[in-house]
Amino acid sequence: MSDVSIIYGSSTGNTEAAANQIARLLNGQTHNVADADANDFDAKLLILGTSTWGLGDLQDDWSVGISLLDRLDLNGQLVALFGFGDQSGFADSFVDGMGTLYAKAIERGAKVIGKTSAQGYGHSASTAEENGEFCGLALDNDNEPDKTDARIAAWVEQLKQESAS
Ligand SMILES: Cc1cc2nc3c(=O)[nH]c(=O)nc-3n(C[C@H](O)[C@H](O)[C@H](O)COP(=O)(O)O)c2cc1C
Repeated sequence: MSDVSIIYGSSTGNTEAAANQIARLLNGQTHNVADADANDFDAKLLILGTSTWGLGDLQDDWSVGISLLDRLDLNGQLVALFGFGDQSGFADSFVDGMGTLYAKAIERGAKVIGKTSAQGYGHSASTAEENGEFCGLALDNDNEPDKTDARIAAWVEQLKQESAS
């Protein structure tokens, strides 16, 4: 079992680049969900990343990953989520894919850490948001690429603290 496993789905490289950055900061292993198997989900901290496509859809490669999650026992498993979206072009479905992963993680019994404030984003609706909080880290390289590195760095520090407590 590795300490940190990061499973991501990415169509144009944004989620993949963030997964690699998070892996560097946490000494984790990255796995593209398109090639992942059940062993890759076996980690002390499981980090799941997706972009959102269509109108609020999970990135395509996650269709297989969702079936894998359906077969895994995630009871008590520490899970953290991150997602890419476009808060301006898709203001009503901003990072909804992350919301889908969250719903699945909760359904499977996971303990989700790494929630973040939704303040400061310009979207109007998101299934990844509840009571002013995103279920994970929301990233937007379409509109705020200059904020991505700092958002990831702060989130990784948050994960270190929350996973230790
Ligand atoms: C056709 C299309 C549909 C999209 N739909 C959404 C959406 O519903 N919600 C959202 O937040 N972002 C949406 N996006 C934005 C992508 O999620 C965003 O560009 C993301 O950074 C892509 O990440 P990736 O390169 O890892 O796949 C869409 C982009 C395109 C081109």
